[in-house]
Amino acid sequence: MEREEILSWLRESDTDRLDALWRRADDTRRSCVGDAVHLRGLVEFANRCARSCAYCGLRADHHELPRYRMTPEEILRCADQIVDSGCGTIVLQSGEDPSLPAEWLADVVGRIKSRTPLAVTLSVGERDERDWAMWRQAGADRYLLRFETSNRALFDRIHPPLPDRRSDRLADLRTLRRLNYEVGSGVMIGIPGQTYEDLANDIEIFAAMSLDMIGVGPFIAHPRTPLGRAGSAGDPPAGQVPPTEEMTYKVIALARLVCPRANIPSTTALATLNRQTGRELGLMRGANVVMPNLTPTRYRQWYEIYPNKACVTESPGDCVPCMRSRIQAIDRRVGVGHGNSRNRSARASQPIEFQEP
Ligand code: 5AD
Ligand code: FES
Repeated sequence: MEREEILSWLRESDTDRLDALWRRADDTRRSCVGDAVHLRGLVEFANRCARSCAYCGLRADHHELPRYRMTPEEILRCADQIVDSGCGTIVLQSGEDPSLPAEWLADVVGRIKSRTPLAVTLSVGERDERDWAMWRQAGADRYLLRFETSNRALFDRIHPPLPDRRSDRLADLRTLRRLNYEVGSGVMIGIPGQTYEDLANDIEIFAAMSLDMIGVGPFIAHPRTPLGRAGSAGDPPAGQVPPTEEMTYKVIALARLVCPRANIPSTTALATLNRQTGRELGLMRGANVVMPNLTPTRYRQWYEIYPNKACVTESPGDCVPCMRSRIQAIDRRVGVGHGNSRNRSARASQPIEFQEP
């Protein structure tokens, strides 16, 4: 798809024309990845974070937030529940915490792999190649690291670097791919200062990197963060992308069209904007994955990356049945097995490098 076409879809407001985009994305989804919706059991196992991302409620200087790290035994109990509930994948997510020993996580991954049939996805932020290699060796299958925005100046503004490490997430994604992970990334939609041009560029990068997984969601202002406070002051600049539900569907649909075989979740941030039908509409406009939350209830409230997050008051037994009934209600079926990326199998024989546009 040409850049101009991406841009004009992002700016489209005519509902009939948008219906055509939703249909095209849904047809592409059906023919390239089928009707299965894969369940990924999400465990937010720790909320300590060393970074100060300007949008995120887990940022280090949010001192009132109680911090936790689950024990390996608690995580293994979640893994067993995930198996029992019929999910094929566990996603272990946390804040970015350099004091989390790589060996600790490698041990957890190894124990999950030896006692369950689950695929393991890690989402723990920027780390050294040595750590990523250790976790891959321990059996981790996939890694999620959103690049958040391809606008370098905007990225730097909202991600103050650690003293000893300049972020380069596109380079990180290449490293992860070289280590033979299934690689997932994505962006937030409607970050203050993000333009339509930026977002079109993000979508072109999804294609250029041939991502295996693409997760996108609306920016949601958190009052305890600099962007949350700034967001309420004054009018947005011209060309600002709105952090809306509709814009999120557009990006999901366009991601499906530029990466037809990728796994694309209908995310919690989207469900937060529309609790009734957000997940379903995401699935009907290009997505083929959902991530039920299996974090123990007592910890959920503290994994508050943005306010009013969907499913925070539910318990681990609630989300999978809820997702199953939502999937059945839209005439789709629940995926069985790992639900590996078809993109990755198609790419297996091809070179691993990618070009930035
Ligand atoms: N609004 C929306 N999404 C957010 N994330 C973090 N903070 C927010 C927020 N305030 C997203 C980021 C991150 C993912 C785990 O959650 O994209 O990569
Ligand atoms: Fe969590 Fe519906 S998905 S309760």
